Amino acid sequence: MDYRNGRGQDTSSVGPPQRPPSSFVEQANVTDEGIYEAFEENWPACWERAAALLEWDEAYDDVLDEEDAPFYEWFTGGKLNASYNCLDRHLEAGRKNHAAIIWEGKRGESQTYTYRELFVKVNEFAAALRDLGVEEDDVVTIYLPMIPELPIAMLACARIGAPHSVVFAGLSADALATRMDAADSEYLVTCDGYYRRGDAFNQLSKADNALLSLEQDVSTVVVDRLGEDLPHVLGDRQYDYHDLVAEHAGETVDPVSRGSEDMLFLMYTSGTTGKPKGVVHTTGGYLSYAAWTTRAVLDVEPNDTHWCSADIGWITGHTYIVYGPLALGTTTVMYEGTPDYPDRDRLWEIVDRNAVDVFYTAPTAVQAFMKWGEQYPNQHDLSSLRLLGTVGEPISPRPWRWYYEHIGDEECPIVDTWWQTETGGITVTTLPGIKSMKPGAAGPPLPGIDARVVDDDGESVSPGESGYLTLHRPWPGMARTLYDGDEQFVEEYWRQFSTPDDDEWVYFSGDAARIDDDDYITILGRVDDVINVAGHRLSTMEIESAILGVSGVAEAAVVGGNGGSSGTDVYAYVSTENGAEPGPSLAAAVTASIESAIGPIARPEEVVFTSELPKTRSGKIMRRLLEDIASDEELGDTSALRNPEIVGEIQAATRDE
Ligand code: WTA
Repeated sequence: MDYRNGRGQDTSSVGPPQRPPSSFVEQANVTDEGIYEAFEENWPACWERAAALLEWDEAYDDVLDEEDAPFYEWFTGGKLNASYNCLDRHLEAGRKNHAAIIWEGKRGESQTYTYRELFVKVNEFAAALRDLGVEEDDVVTIYLPMIPELPIAMLACARIGAPHSVVFAGLSADALATRMDAADSEYLVTCDGYYRRGDAFNQLSKADNALLSLEQDVSTVVVDRLGEDLPHVLGDRQYDYHDLVAEHAGETVDPVSRGSEDMLFLMYTSGTTGKPKGVVHTTGGYLSYAAWTTRAVLDVEPNDTHWCSADIGWITGHTYIVYGPLALGTTTVMYEGTPDYPDRDRLWEIVDRNAVDVFYTAPTAVQAFMKWGEQYPNQHDLSSLRLLGTVGEPISPRPWRWYYEHIGDEECPIVDTWWQTETGGITVTTLPGIKSMKPGAAGPPLPGIDARVVDDDGESVSPGESGYLTLHRPWPGMARTLYDGDEQFVEEYWRQFSTPDDDEWVYFSGDAARIDDDDYITILGRVDDVINVAGHRLSTMEIESAILGVSGVAEAAVVGGNGGSSGTDVYAYVSTENGAEPGPSLAAAVTASIESAIGPIARPEEVVFTSELPKTRSGKIMRRLLEDIASDEELGDTSALRNPEIVGEIQAATRDE
């Protein structure tokens, strides 16, 4: 590990602090600056504020149980149901006709579900799942694109106490099979297909292929999204979604009272090995934290229309499209399409038509908007917007300014939110009604969060220096373990910086960062074998193992690079076996193998053939050098290489492509 290895923005590029617009501050959910100190003085009891946003069937005994650290437990002894908290209680509070979900389809269709309507749909599907044999604690895999049945299925699972494992719809059959196998999941909810830029695209055949390689019998529910556009035939143990719910029309299912620490869902994400990790989130801590951060950071209120433009297939969508907003009883927008179809003003048209209050997106998207130009947002009335957010990558000051001026009209604060699948919700950012924003820096740790930047010995670095981003205290939304390995959980996140006698447990994020004298943290990028590509988190090891499966390939190294421009892409460096011909057809085979193992999201920007990979004298591939080459940056010291003569060849081959 080497934190100088972190990819991201230039460390000098943080803009001057800027106060949030006063029109915003006047109405913000959290405005009392004393909150930071109050959380310090009263930790961990301060987190009761988060738990108080929920309705509990049974009160918890303890806020935090540290006995089995780092397997922390939150709100122990408490009981609650997530679907009850996201649905029933809002009906009881007289909000049954308030819009819960506004779904915007790819082809211009739009559908609103009130809390009452969503309640009915979730109950019917919960009854159907029960009827299929799903019991409490059975893992249900959901492999759906951004259609309403996705959150409906999640909440139906939550209702009956069956953890869901949502697999991003763009992942391949192999990736789905790996995840179902690891979770021993015997239930799958998928669809016949979906539209991609107007074309019908088959999803069911991917699901069918995945099932072929599984040992367990799987019952599959298939949503008919495409109708006549893509007729399909159901096989054995496959059930039509609409038929199933029709059989249970009008039925209700009592929400199962779950222990606070019972699993709400599993989310597979990429780690430092070739195998995806099943991150476990629990009911009480996760949901409290989702609701709390949605309210405090995104400033969401029940009467808002909130739009997080992520995909529900990743953690951002879980927390800030589904659980956070619905727990608060607000209106959440879910968008099936892309920002540039049918035209580049699509998002702004949706903001305008729905009078969206809060908009949360990724820096890559902001960069695209900036490139397309302000004429697109200018075609629409965006004055309903009150707050803007970003997540997933660092945002540089220039796109930050553009977002601030052209989308927010200088009236909306921007929250640059740092967090991870494992943190469950936002952990580092500015509280928008209190803190100044510094374009390019995410901000200080949230109240109650002890984030630090440390050196190799785990000591805090001086202001202005870079190091590793670590969290030194537990928080309610944190991952509890990995589904198939407590030991791996400790190894992946806790071994690096905890004290040898384990009396202080330190969580390591895998990111490099820099901290200012006022505690603002600037994220510099991953230092492990994970790369973030357009909001998707990928493991270089997983991609490499797909490449090594191609005949003719001897060695492979995958790195993230930005080719000198913005945004990270996948670069694959490949050496061939004796006799194998490096060239377009082998490159195509490499790309095909990656797409079949993971999906098109991991498609390399370049496959570069080289006679040898650059190696240290001890035989380790020098990835940092490859990253510099892929990013067209000046190369660091190459004297430690066993084969320095190879560098020129690789550079030339990368530029040649
Ligand atoms: C990166 C997404 C810079 C980081 C919520 C982290 C960020 C990884 C930011 C987690 C940010 C997330 N600035 N980098 N504001 N937010 N990241 O698990 O590298 O898909 O470790 O969770 O995204 O990605 P994940």
